[in-house]
Amino acid sequence: MNFSANQNQTPNPTTNPQSPNQTWWKEAVVYQIYPRSFKDSNGDGVGDLQGIIEKLDYIKSLGVDVVWFNPIYPSPNCDNGYDVSDYEGIMPEFGTMQDFDRLLKGLHQRNIKLMMDLVVNHSSDEHEWFKQASSSKENPYRDYYHWWPAEKGKPPYRDSFFDIEEGAWKYDEKTDSYFLHYFATKQPDLNWENPVLREEVFKLMRFWLDKGVDGFRMDVISYISKDINFPEITQEYLDQNDKGRWGIYYAKGPHLHDYLQQMNREVLSQYDIMTVGEGSGVTIEEATNFVDEDRKELDMFFHFDGMYIGLLPGKYKQPDPAGWKLTDFKKLYSKWNDIFAEKGWGSIYLGNHDQPRMVSRWGNDAPEFAAVSSKMLHTFLLTMRATPYIYAGDEIGMGNIKFDDIHDYRDIETLNMYQKLQKDGEDTQKYMEGWKLTARDNSRTPFQWNDQENAGFTTGKPWIKVNTNFNVVNEASQDVDPNSVLNYFRKLIQFRKSHPILVYGDYQLLDEANEQVYAYARSLDDQKLLVLLNFSAQEAEYTSLQPIHTSAILINNYSDLKVGQEKVFLKPYQAVMINLK
Ligand code: NOJ
Repeated sequence: MNFSANQNQTPNPTTNPQSPNQTWWKEAVVYQIYPRSFKDSNGDGVGDLQGIIEKLDYIKSLGVDVVWFNPIYPSPNCDNGYDVSDYEGIMPEFGTMQDFDRLLKGLHQRNIKLMMDLVVNHSSDEHEWFKQASSSKENPYRDYYHWWPAEKGKPPYRDSFFDIEEGAWKYDEKTDSYFLHYFATKQPDLNWENPVLREEVFKLMRFWLDKGVDGFRMDVISYISKDINFPEITQEYLDQNDKGRWGIYYAKGPHLHDYLQQMNREVLSQYDIMTVGEGSGVTIEEATNFVDEDRKELDMFFHFDGMYIGLLPGKYKQPDPAGWKLTDFKKLYSKWNDIFAEKGWGSIYLGNHDQPRMVSRWGNDAPEFAAVSSKMLHTFLLTMRATPYIYAGDEIGMGNIKFDDIHDYRDIETLNMYQKLQKDGEDTQKYMEGWKLTARDNSRTPFQWNDQENAGFTTGKPWIKVNTNFNVVNEASQDVDPNSVLNYFRKLIQFRKSHPILVYGDYQLLDEANEQVYAYARSLDDQKLLVLLNFSAQEAEYTSLQPIHTSAILINNYSDLKVGQEKVFLKPYQAVMINLK
């Protein structure tokens, strides 16, 4: 049987649950903006704050509640702003503090909150603190960073995420010492074991909060505490932890939770804000320690487990030629749902500035499937029991750029991996193929506003190439197309907002063994919704335990749905939400 679902039908609001644990940030949808790539207002090829101001009405039209900006502070940009040289300023390429104040006001006038990126595991080596600290062993800023004097011999090995030489200790001749940098050599780690440093961080947090910002996304916050004896790490320990091995070690600093609690006591609890930590290396066993309300630490964090699905072990981000299995994906996201069923709260994302485009990685970016699979993935993000984080560009289904030439890349991570592989005499071409699927620059290409030059992003030369598919995938054409990914996304957000069951309702995984369909139920009081997502490019079947009624389809990314006796037949990447009561 075929029938049409009314895509414009007004949803029936569910009853509002009267749980004491309801908060605005659980109900919020967060939109992540990578300012460098969003909109350039002055033709220098780099996105800026004025560009975001020009697009405020667009952001409002999405229906999102909170915007998160990747770092906008002054920075030498060795890692696109994740190397901060002044925590209380604005990167001149992006504008001025006046622009920032206008932008914040413009967001608040539209009832949208702003979350800043807080990058305090490390600073830039061009930050005044580091300049002072590295000038002499006696300098009062010396203990703002981690040093290992060369007279003690070579420091015990630590791994760096970006270093070509490998190793997270860099020798500094001036004071005959090594300093620690978990990321690039230009990103020395701050010494949180020093109470004076902690107070400095709390002060800069208050600076932004007093300006009126509404929260922080905290960069690799799980790494801040270190065992300053720096014991040797045994290979056996690292082997046990496989892919995220150093990350898991780094996320187990001895005083991590003390520092988060102190931060909460002295800063966070004083404001009505939201916080989300980047939980690199945080395992599911540790999860609630960060977000259990009674512990007073953070509100949410991003776990990384989902991002490793379908990757080979090792640090070169190579896809497993065998691909990935939906059953693994479902199991993982269900586990991460269940862990927060009683305590704490989850976040959910499929793309961000460190990941490839979600449609290329988890959907299908072939022209015939790109739009429908983007819609399916948005259906997933916006119907799970967690706060959804949507990366700008995904709402129009932007895909990976897939560079053929290493010179097109801008990202320190990919460029350094390439140099390291070259140095080791590896076949770089093989890795280049893998990065077409996984590299970070895939998601950092300019936002595709229209089908004009440079996709309407800039009148100058963009800092990174624009994806050539901007004639087909762009905001202007989708805005006026009722069937576009963009308008589907807007509709889903409104649906989530008018259905608290999607925020607070229980989640139950169904048909666990199905390799094509991700099926789950959300239920609250006497209400029940069924979500069916075909993650494959083939038709798929779902066997329903109860009859599906034609009038019960609330969301559908196709215009119809085939239903038989106890069975639902889903088209490639079809996503439906069905009322079961
Ligand atoms: C995580 C950030 O998201 C990433 O972009 C950055 O390179 C590292 N942390 C280092 O700050």
